[in-house]
Order: sequence, then structure tokens, then C-alpha cells
Amino acid sequence: MCGIVGYIGLGHDSDGNSFNHSAYDVLLEGLRRQEYRGYDSAGVAVIGDSGVEYRKKAGKLINLANEVEANPLPTSNIGIGHTRWATHGGPTDANAHPHVVDNGRLAVVHNGIIENFAEIRSELLEEGVEFISETDTEVAANLIASIYNKLDTKDLTEAVRVASNRMEGAFTILAIHEDAKDRVVATRRNSPLVIGLGNNENFLGSDVSGFIDYTKSAVEMGQDQIVTITATDYSIIDFDGNPAEGKPYTIEWDAAAAEKGGYPSFMEKEIHEQPAAVRDTLMGRFDENGNLTLDELKIDDSTLRSIDKIIVVACGTAAYAGHVARYAIEHWCRIPTEVELAHEFRYRDPIVNEKTLVVSLSQSGETMDTLMAVRHAQEQGAKVVSICNTTGSTLPRESDAALYTHAGPEIAVASTKAFLSQIAAAYLLGLYLAQLRGNMYKDEIQQVLSELQAMPEKIQELLDNEQQIKDLGASMKDAPSVLFLGRHVGYPVALEGALKLKEIAYLHAEGFAAGELKHGPIALIEEGQPVFVIVPSPRGRDSLHSKVVSNIQEIRARGAVTLVIAEEGDEAVKPYADHLITTPQCPTLLQPLLATVPLQIFACSLAGAKGLDVDQPRNLAKSVTVE
Ligand code: G6P
Repeated sequence: MCGIVGYIGLGHDSDGNSFNHSAYDVLLEGLRRQEYRGYDSAGVAVIGDSGVEYRKKAGKLINLANEVEANPLPTSNIGIGHTRWATHGGPTDANAHPHVVDNGRLAVVHNGIIENFAEIRSELLEEGVEFISETDTEVAANLIASIYNKLDTKDLTEAVRVASNRMEGAFTILAIHEDAKDRVVATRRNSPLVIGLGNNENFLGSDVSGFIDYTKSAVEMGQDQIVTITATDYSIIDFDGNPAEGKPYTIEWDAAAAEKGGYPSFMEKEIHEQPAAVRDTLMGRFDENGNLTLDELKIDDSTLRSIDKIIVVACGTAAYAGHVARYAIEHWCRIPTEVELAHEFRYRDPIVNEKTLVVSLSQSGETMDTLMAVRHAQEQGAKVVSICNTTGSTLPRESDAALYTHAGPEIAVASTKAFLSQIAAAYLLGLYLAQLRGNMYKDEIQQVLSELQAMPEKIQELLDNEQQIKDLGASMKDAPSVLFLGRHVGYPVALEGALKLKEIAYLHAEGFAAGELKHGPIALIEEGQPVFVIVPSPRGRDSLHSKVVSNIQEIRARGAVTLVIAEEGDEAVKPYADHLITTPQCPTLLQPLLATVPLQIFACSLAGAKGLDVDQPRNLAKSVTVE
């Protein structure tokens, strides 16, 4: 939700060689990589010889680039940039960031929501400040300016610190001032910010993709902290002004991993990266004794053994991964497991105590709803394990244990490879608990693991035969709605299949538990209605398979066009499938790792046939850092 970039450089290295890094180039590249965080408008501000200059434009980043081409910015070594997902005020030029105030001397970009902005605004109005936009950001900018102008020291860091204590809500704010050309100051509360360290140049980003082209060296910051970067140094303080330490780390992603790599869209690329995403997530999980390990574990074994309930909290696609995981965790660990949308969890007064293990699932690690659910659970004494794709992000940092999905950067807004790797990681967690609590023998765990390890190859097999599904997707571009049915682990897969279509094809789509059909949804079936059915393996529990086959017959008898996803060799479904998509054989619990893939390809192809931008669907953002 909103991408932020900051840059300051000497303009040359220690030998005096030119870097050729103009602030604008660095900012534009950083925004391009972070555009998935929001694309309602974009803007940059730099400090040139005659002070702060800025350009901002509604719409995608290309509009800003065109504006700068027509109306160039001065050469500069310092600047800030922003790509917006609108919260306060519509996506207009005026509401775009940066907000430049105090007679053009101070520029600010902001991600988040300042909850007490109305109160601050009226105080500033009394001081005689005039506002030109409807945003909380302009209030923040004027607050910083007002404090700065009253300070004898004229210290931008101090002004930002005092302002930070005055603002409530969630924010990351970057500020530059024409009187302080040697620094970019940033503050963060409940909103993401990382520091990038270069050679005589330093960076700020909402995430590392904001500066991945320039450095692999990053520093994590804590909540309620302020960082001041100069070209050669950085320093962090807390909101009381005490010095604070950052946590340096090396970025493992390379810049190429965040490019399309020959695919027409990031979504297609990421769908095709799923074998690697699952493989990498499963890799290196054993200690020298052959026991499973987690990445960072700050919960002792006796606490984990005493857990009597698991609650998975997540949003969107990640929540569906949680639904899948529940079947496996309950089966393997015999621990009652609930899955709850993070934004609902907090408000129903959930029963959570020291014996509850909360598992958060999040690609970004920054989803505010999930973060708030985790904090709420921790306040009640629960321990939290976070399954996350982004090292250094807030959720794993605030959790008692972290398990990283090694899916690499996911850029397309609609989640694909993160979903599959979240399932794989959640299964590892289930097996880890089963191992610790003695629910499964070592050889049983090994058996499941080797089945899991065989999945990447099977996913690849599906991808190698994707043309059939692509054609099906394109042929259904005019369908007014598509329904999805599944049972057991196939049910959350149906929900995820429907979500993909809603997100990127703007098509009405619904997922149902196949057993629920006769209790209502069957009334929706009319001649020609496309219905995907996810069929469990006939080699698993027979009752499950035969019930779904009956469901297919019921809808077909009422005119549905059936798109059946079934295991290779499943003869029973053939007579009832208008379109049969076969998946390699695997155990029932692992089927979602395969059955989801055709649904992703279908949605992507259908949206493409409608001429839609699958990577940046309307109204959405990838990382939702507001509640
Ligand atoms: C947004 C995205 C979804 C994603 C969800 C959770 O709604 O559009 O694709 O599934 O957030 O994101 P997370 O980063 O927590 O997995």
C-alpha cells in the first residue's frame, strides 16, 4: 500500500569517480519496482540549486515519467518518491505525493493513515496554515514545517521526531528540506520502511525492491523509530530521541528476480516460478539429526507441547492457504485449528490464552489487518509463528517464531506462488509440531516430506501442459459468471479459484463447498453456467470422491458446463466432464498444490483475453498496510 523511496548520494565514490546516479533516476527505478504497492498516482521531489522541485501526476508511473520528460527536474543527489494507493482524497494530481509546503521548502511523502489528522489540521488552520489538498499527508507536512520553524536548532530530524509523537495511526513519512541538503529523514510507526546502504549513497524504501538495483546491503528498523540518512551514514533514534540500533542484513533477491524474465506479465512469470517456490520453501529444513527446524524460533519446546489450540490469521489468498493447512495440521497434530480472517478475529473477542498458538500467514509481512490480529493475540498471552515471504518485514519481526517461504519477490497483485509456498510452509509447521509432540513417527514425517518434495516436479508437469487451460480461459472471456466447487482441501482451492477471477478478470465468481450445493447454490445453475469442480483423488477416501462425482452429475443435469480437475486415471469423472483437466497423482492433502495451478492459469488467460492488466488490477494493491 503506497511505495516510498528516498535517496541521497555524494554523486561520486571515494575515488572521486562519478556514479552517474541522479536522484530522479534512482527514485523512478525504485518506484517502478514498487508500483505494485499502489498505482493511483506517483510523484518525486528533489533538491536542486534553487531549492525543492517536484513533479506529481495522477495515474500510473508512466504519467509521471512523461511529465518529467516534458518538464525536466534539475540534476540532484537527494530526493524522495511515492507511488500511491489512495486512502484520504481521490487519486488526483493535487492529492498525489509529495506534498510540498512552507513556501516550497519542505517536501514529504507518506504511507499510511494519520488518524488524528483533523485535530492537527484545525490547530494548524488557527496558526494560519492554508491547505490545498484533502489529504492527511499535507497535514503531516505542515505539522513538521510548523515544528521546524519554531526550533532554534532548525534540525529536520528533531522536527520529524516531535511531529511523530503528535501523530496517531500508521505512517511512514520521508522528509527533505531545502536547508538540509545533506539528509533525508524518515519516521515509521506501524508502516514499513527499510534502509539500503550503498557506497557513498544511501536509500530508503517501503521494501528492498525500492533500491535492489543499487545495493544488497539493508538495515531493518523497529517500530516508532526515526532514521536520518546522509550520503555516507545513517542514524536511528526512537520517538524519545534515544539512539537505536538497526539490524543489518543481506538481500538475497537479485534485481533480475523482480523483472518479467520474458513473460508477458509478472503473474505469468510467478505462476511458472511455482515449482521453484515450493522447492526452495522446503529446502534446508533439517538439522544434523534429520529433525525438522524452523527459521527463527523463540518459543521453548515445553510451551509448544502445551498448545491446545491453533488459530491461523491471514487475509485474502493467504487466508485460503490457512484453510488448506487446517486440514493437514488437525490431521497430523490432533490440535483443534481455527482459521480466521485477521480483520474479523480481533472484533469477536476470541478465546486466546497462553496455550494458543497463533499462526500468521502473509506474503508481504506488512498486512495491517494481520499485524493487528497478531498483536491482539500476543496481548492475550498467545505465542505467534509467522509464515512470511519477506525477510525483515514487520510480522516475522514481531513474532515468537518465523518460517520463511522462499518464493522470491511476488510482484503481481494477485498472489500465486506465495499461496503454494504458504501451503508448503504451513505443512512444514504442522509436521514440526507433530514431530515435537510425538503425534507422528519420524518415518511417517519423512514419508510426507518426500511426497512434498516430489510436488515441484508435478507442478512443472501441469505447467508444461498449460495450453489447454489457456485456451479454455480465453474461450470463456464473455461468461457472466463462473462457479467453483470443492470438498475437503478442494473447498479452499475453489474459493481461491473464484478469488483469482474476481481480482484480475472483474468477473462474478463464487466458490462453494460441494456439499453445500443442494442447500442453495444449485439454484444458480442454468443452461451454460461454467462450473469448475475440484475432484479428490479416487485413491483417497472413496466417500469423498464418489460424493463429488455425484455433485458433478447433479449440476450437469441442470445445464452446467463442467470444467473438471481430476487426478490422472480417474475414469469415473470422464462421462460428466465437458472439459477434463488432469493433474498428476498425489496424496489428497497435497492436492491443492496442483489443483490451484490450472485455476490461476485460467483466470490469467481469461483476464488477458479481456484485455485487462493482470499485474495491476483496478482498485487493488499488493501490500495493504491500512486497516
Ligand atoms: C491483498 C492482496 C492479496 C493478498 C492479501 C494478503 O489483499 O491483494 O493478493 O492475498 O493482501 O496479503 P499478504 O501480503 O498478507 O499475504
